[in-house]
Amino acid sequence: MSELWASSPGRCAAYLDALGISRWELRIQPAATVPRSPAVAPAPAVVATAAAVPLPQVSMSGARRAAYLKAMDITCWLPRVPVVPLARVQLESETVIEPDVMTETLFDVAPELPPAALAPEVLAPVNAEPLRLEMPLPAVAPAWDVLREQVANCRACELCATRTQTVFGAGARDAQLMLIGEAPGADEDRLGEPFVGRAGKLLTSMVTALGLTREQVYIANVLKCRPPDNRNPKPEEAAQCAGFLNQQIALVQPRVIVALGAIAAQHLLHTSETIGKLRGQWWQLEPAGIPLRATYHPAYLLRSPEQKAKSWEDLTAVLERLAVS
Ligand code: URA
Repeated sequence: MSELWASSPGRCAAYLDALGISRWELRIQPAATVPRSPAVAPAPAVVATAAAVPLPQVSMSGARRAAYLKAMDITCWLPRVPVVPLARVQLESETVIEPDVMTETLFDVAPELPPAALAPEVLAPVNAEPLRLEMPLPAVAPAWDVLREQVANCRACELCATRTQTVFGAGARDAQLMLIGEAPGADEDRLGEPFVGRAGKLLTSMVTALGLTREQVYIANVLKCRPPDNRNPKPEEAAQCAGFLNQQIALVQPRVIVALGAIAAQHLLHTSETIGKLRGQWWQLEPAGIPLRATYHPAYLLRSPEQKAKSWEDLTAVLERLAVS
């Protein structure tokens, strides 16, 4: 075999690839275990008929193979299999919701695992009946990817029938500042990202004016689906979606939250007070005690630019708050 490599390594490699034989498998075979085929005699002839003379394959245990790969400094990419159940979501009410599953990359020994290693519940389909999340901040929040998937699969209210896609949220997962709007509009529904239309451009300018970038803050909405014709969210829709937003807040743990517009402020503060009354002062979002400032929605500022000064007052207060401690 070594003569083959010496005479035409490129061609030989191509043949081996076609046969599904990897080079390292050949090289690690102890010489004594590789029978010399008579057909392997003259180098050029063998190359021409290599496909008809399959080389013996070395069968190795997953662990041994892993050891070889490690010794050769080769990263082994392995199939994704569901293995780890999510941390349980502990509600304030002490109710425990059995979590969905998350997937994790495992090492290539999965086929050798005893069946007991995969507990029945972790094999539950990811797309099982979506959880109905109607709860305040959970003590233990599920991981981002799982939450995103739950949002994407949610069919808890009628908005799932008219949405193009869900709009999860965007930005830094460890942001100090979290901005919360009302619901996706047409642009967001089309692109799957919050605040990307005209109002979004203004919001980006407001964030930039704070000396931050969009990527440094976290932006989310009360609703994850667009209400048809941009109507206001119905209370029951906001209630169905509340668990998702609460979990996003719990995961980001921002130092300050800005509620953009009346709908977001009223939803977060559990009040029907007008935005004119709610803005201009600090609130505390329980149970985590996160300082919250309400201000005008960028879409409203587009229609009423004379209110931008008040909005800037709110943002200045936010900036000062972020600068402290
Ligand atoms: N308005 C919102 O409240 N959210 C968006 O994502 C876009 C517009």
